[in-house]
Amino acid sequence: MEKKIYIGCDTAGYGLKMQCIEYLESKDIPYVDCGCDNDPDIESTRYPFFAARVAGAVSKGEAECGILICGTGLGMSMMANKFPGVRAAMISSTYQAKMTRLHNDANILCMGGRTAGEWEAIDMLETFLNTPYDGGFHDGSLNLIKEAEEYMGNGKIWEKEPCKISTGALKDSEIFDRKK
Ligand code: RB5
Repeated sequence: MEKKIYIGCDTAGYGLKMQCIEYLESKDIPYVDCGCDNDPDIESTRYPFFAARVAGAVSKGEAECGILICGTGLGMSMMANKFPGVRAAMISSTYQAKMTRLHNDANILCMGGRTAGEWEAIDMLETFLNTPYDGGFHDGSLNLIKEAEEYMGNGKIWEKEPCKISTGALKDSEIFDRKK
């Protein structure tokens, strides 16, 4: 069965969530709306509830990826990143949308309903959905995140001396002269 995109918001993110849903429907992209509905009661629409629905589905491998929108996107990203295997990226530009897929293999996109303009937000969403992970060199960094997450799941704090992690070559375009 085809996995769907899980999308959630709080009251402050509701308007932008509906615009994202309009975009997904226009492209026939299957999605699951995890709430909230247009409820003005911010007490019942606290963002951690909705972040948990989306991040839980991503963490369990039930979702293709996730989209989370609150006022700033910040609270959503903080909550989502507590879930194992989740790499939630709070972004505010199309360049960040591209790079967090290419380098971080982000699996949840977080945006701010009060901070992102509608047109930029839809562009960020489109870029996020259409950019593949680059792999190679970046696997080394993602492996370190995974290692730290697993270690700290046992109540310990992960630390490691910086060392070389060779998992592939950097793209030529990423090699730059640091002296300039
Ligand atoms: C709720 O007003 C607000 O705190 C929330 O939407 C979000 O911006 C938190 O990070």
